[in-house]
This record gives sequence, structure tokens and C-alpha cells, in this order.
Amino acid sequence: MAESFEVSMAGEEKYYVPDPSYKEHAWTKDYARAYQEFLADKEGFWEKQAHHLEWFKKWDKVLEWNYPYARWFVNAKLNITSNCLDRHVANHRRNKVALIWRGEEGEERIFTYKKLYHEVCRFANGLKKLGVAKGDRVCIYMPLVPEQVIAMLACARIGAVHSVVFGGFGVNALNMRINDAEAKIVITADVAIRRGKTIPLKTIVEEAIINAPSIEKVVVLSREVDQPVELHKEMEIDFYELMEGVSAECKPEVMDAEDPLFILYTSGSTGTPKGIVHTCGGYMVGTYYTTLNVFDLKDTDVYWCTADTGWITGHSYVVYGPFCVGATVVLAEAVPDYPDAGSFWKIIQDLGITIFYTAPTAIRMFMRVGEEWPNRYDLSSLRILGSVGEPLNPEAFEWYYRIIGKNRCPVVDTWWQTETGMQMITTMVGEPMRPGFAGKAIPGVVADVVTKQGAPVEPGNGGFLVIRDPWPAMLRTVYKNDERYRTYWHTIPDCYTAGDLAVKGKDGNIMIIGRADDIIIVAGHNIGTAEVESALVSHQAVAEAAVIGKPDPLKGNLIKAFVILRVGFQPSEKLKSDLIYHVRMTLGPIAMPSEIDFMDKLPKTRSGKIMRRVLKAKEMGIDPGDVSTLEE
Ligand code: WTA
Repeated sequence: MAESFEVSMAGEEKYYVPDPSYKEHAWTKDYARAYQEFLADKEGFWEKQAHHLEWFKKWDKVLEWNYPYARWFVNAKLNITSNCLDRHVANHRRNKVALIWRGEEGEERIFTYKKLYHEVCRFANGLKKLGVAKGDRVCIYMPLVPEQVIAMLACARIGAVHSVVFGGFGVNALNMRINDAEAKIVITADVAIRRGKTIPLKTIVEEAIINAPSIEKVVVLSREVDQPVELHKEMEIDFYELMEGVSAECKPEVMDAEDPLFILYTSGSTGTPKGIVHTCGGYMVGTYYTTLNVFDLKDTDVYWCTADTGWITGHSYVVYGPFCVGATVVLAEAVPDYPDAGSFWKIIQDLGITIFYTAPTAIRMFMRVGEEWPNRYDLSSLRILGSVGEPLNPEAFEWYYRIIGKNRCPVVDTWWQTETGMQMITTMVGEPMRPGFAGKAIPGVVADVVTKQGAPVEPGNGGFLVIRDPWPAMLRTVYKNDERYRTYWHTIPDCYTAGDLAVKGKDGNIMIIGRADDIIIVAGHNIGTAEVESALVSHQAVAEAAVIGKPDPLKGNLIKAFVILRVGFQPSEKLKSDLIYHVRMTLGPIAMPSEIDFMDKLPKTRSGKIMRRVLKAKEMGIDPGDVSTLEE
């Protein structure tokens, strides 16, 4: 890691100020005051949020902090699904629409809170029939359909720990995740649908479980797009058959606040992904509070987050946060450019979306195809826009604000991570927005930009983004690898190191620059360089590989690989595409390199570590910096 750095910023400081009515009606009306209130009594602040939710038994203590281990809402008992479902079914939201699903061709399925409640209970009872009990791990590898949400909530209902794996991951990635979590069950579907084509998820599962001894059963949702799937009866069971002959009521399992709710794998700097563990109580309070306050979500809102449920954004802001709040959530198995570049805008118009949450990559793609696409649709229902996953560069901010928000909607650029579980930095609704800057720590969070030694950088300078105090939705450990958890808290003294570089503006706003480590953010997805490298060297032709992120105007970064071939193999275009295909099959389409260069040698330190930094500097035509440790 480098030291902090000075930043010179061209141009004037520019702000956009939303209409005062936004502030007047916001849940958090005055950011500065709310933040002061939080600082005055940090635990009291979170306790107040927790009181809005239902608990079987309340806490003895809000926080027990034993650096770097936190226990939030000590000894409290709850079930997050009681707050997501039962609470609403018992009040005026009983017949409110909980979920509207849209398929690529405009098909629609609607679930009221009551209907969703019964579907979840039935599937939960079905899982019990299979012998799934509290603490068991269940892997969910599904397309973006309501059944994925039902499966997640059903696990939570009975205290099973879900591990959702994004449908864009390949055989090895899935196998590794199943084995690490020692999952008992996989829930999947015959196919996912993307751009009119089917992707055979079940076939991938069949291969992925060959070397997965913990798996007892595979539950298969048959979408019957082409033809009914054939099930191997000894191992596989139909999703809806499992729900037959069971009660539509299922008592929620009593969970301790610190019992695990789910594991979600994220890329790390080594070849093996990290199983980030989130627990029931704090995660519930953190996602509930942020959904309500960051999106300023009201009972009448129609909320659409375009993320797949396989990512943390889908966990926190498609499922748990919005349902805890009692929102109407839109789920769309849709891509921004199919059947044409108007697909998202059509959904907004048709369903009257009021809050729209998407990724900068999508926004930049929309910019490229032109404003005539959104201009064909009525977007006047929109009230608030959100962004997540990578820096929202000023040009993309301006376009989003002007073309989609019609110079009217506040844009919340939310910085957070799989590890943080909830949004941490943004510009709260109604506050002045500064393009290029995500904003400030939300009330409830203490963030800073510091040097390697942990000293705050001077305003106007850059350094490492850190979080200073524990927060309720923070990760509790890395599954079966607590040492990797401790690393987050022991890299820079006395704080949680996020792994991002950031600039602290003179006005206190924070600009996120990008990763400080070997993680590449490609179209908003985290990919570890080491994961791609090990996929490459598992090919018979490859002796060594080094992977870097290469800046790309559309996707943020592209994956570029440098490969040394084994003796007897010759560089060729054919071999390049073979290698790309190999990575696609092992890790999945999201981790495919866009470029491969064949090399005779890779820059290494004297101790044999590949210096990716040098490769990157060369690729970008910039100064590689300190190369004194380079071998030659
Ligand atoms: C990046 C996604 C800039 C960052 C919720 C972080 C962002 C990583 C932003 C976490 C943002 C996320 N501005 N960068 N608003 N949001 N990032 O775990 O590098 O998939 O560390 O969580 O995405 O990615 P993850």
C-alpha cells in the first residue's frame, strides 16, 4: 500500500441542490443534526432504530465490542422474516403488493404480502421435510425469479443459513462455494433466461456437485420454457412438488441476534473467495434503517433495484431491507439492452417506479446508446435515483441526474460492500450533491480517509477509506477462516480497512477512487486477480499467469491477462479463445478476460511475487513508481 497522496482537482466545486420539499418530507430531515445526535449517543441511536422492529425478546445490551469482535443486540431473539412478512400481514399491508416480477418479454407475476407469506411458509415446511434444520447451509443458485426470494426467506424462516451463488458463476466457482459452506441442499432452476436465450443452470449444478459430498438433495424449479426437465428422483425434487401437502403456516424459528443469517462469498486477494458471514439482528436493523432513510422510502413508493439477488445489493436492498420496511419491490429478470435499449425505461413507465437503484456501468451504457431511448418513455413517476457498485463518475452523474431524473430527482450514490452489509456513505436525500463524490458517512457510521498508519489525511488529500466504529450490519467473520476476518481490522490500526482508495474533499465529502488491492471491479462485480490467474493456470497450456484490471470507459475495468505458456505450446489466436472459454467454464462469464497477451517473462519481485502494478503501469503508459524490489 502506498502512502496518502495529494490531489489537485480541476474546475470549480459544483453542487446540485434538490427542491426543499424533499428535505421537508424526508425521514432524515436534517443530516447534520441527525449526525450530531448519533455522535452524542452512538448506541442509543441504533437502539432507537431497533425499537421500530419486532423482537421475540429485546436485548440486554445494544453492543458488546471486544476489538475486532462485535455483538449487537446482545441476547435479543428474533426472526427477520417475522419483520419482512408477519408484521405486514397483520396490519394494513396484508393485501399490499410485496413483489412484482417482470420477465424479459414483459410477463408479470404479482405477490401480495399475504401471498408471499404463505409461499415462504410452504417452502419452509418443504425444506423441513427434506431434513433441513436450523444452522444447516443451503446453497441457492437460481435465476432472478420470485422463487429465489421465496427460497431465501424460507431458509431464514427455519434458521437455515443460505449461501446464494450468482447464476453467472461457472462449475468450479459453484463447487468451491458449496464445499466451503458444506451445503446440504442446492436449490436451482432448469434455466435462466437472458437476451431470449436459456442458460442451463441445472446442468452446471449437476457438474458442480460431483465432488461435493455434503449435498443430499437438489431442489429444481422447472420453468418449462423449452420442455419439462427430467428429474433424477433419488437426488432431485421439484420446487413446487416440495410445497405440496404441507401447511401454509410455519412458525418462525427463534433466532439469537448473533445467529448467522447467511453466507455470501466475495472475492479476496487470494485464489479462494471469502464466505462473508452476516447475522440476524444487526443486519436486520442496519438494512431496515438504511432502506428507510437512504432511499427515504415511503409506503406508497414502487421500488426497483436492478441488482441480481446473488449479490449483496440484492440481499440487502431487494429482499431484507425493503421487505422489513414493507415496500412494493420490483424484480426484473431483464438486461438493459434487450429486446432493445428501452427495456428499463419501459418497466419504469409501466409500473410507475418511484425509486430506481442501479449501477454506473448500466448508466454509462445508456449514455452511449443516447438519450432518445429514455426520452421515448414517461419517467415522471421517478422520485429518487440510486447508484452502487463502483464510482459514479461526474459525467455519468450529470447524465443520470439530467436525462433520467429530469434535473429533479436526488441521486444517492451509495458506497458500501458485501462486508458492510448496509449502505455506509452517501448524500442523504435533500442534501447538496457533489458530482464525483459519494458523500458523507450516514448517521450511524463513522468513516474516514487515513494514511497507512491510520492518521486522518488533510482535507483535499487522498488515502485509505476506513470505518472507525463497529456498525450493526458489519460482517462477523469469514466462514471457517476467522484470520481473514481479523485482517480487515488489523491492516490499519484501530479501524476497519475497506480496501478502497478515497479522497476527502475540503467540504467533508468523500470521493471513492477504486480498489487499493488485487480486486478488480468489472461492471460492478468483484473479481479477484488471483481467482482468474488460478483458473488460467489450471489450463494445460499455461505455466504462469498475471491478471490486471484495465480501465474501461463502459465497464469501469476490463480483465487483462498476461500468460506464459508451457514448453510445447505456441501462442495463437485460437489458444487465446480457448483460454477465455476455459475461464468462462470454470469461473463463469463474469470473470472472462477481455484481452490476453502471451509473455516470455513476468515482472517479479526478488521473492518471486508477480508485480501486477508494473504490468498495469506499462499497459496504461504511466510511471510504474517504485521498482526497487523488481528482480531485474
Ligand atoms: C466498490 C457492493 C465507488 C468499492 C455493494 C467497494 C463503490 C466494492 C461504490 C464492494 C460506490 C461499491 N462508489 N465504489 N458508490 N459502491 N463500490 O462487495 O470498491 O460487491 O469496495 O458490494 O465496490 O463491492 P461489493
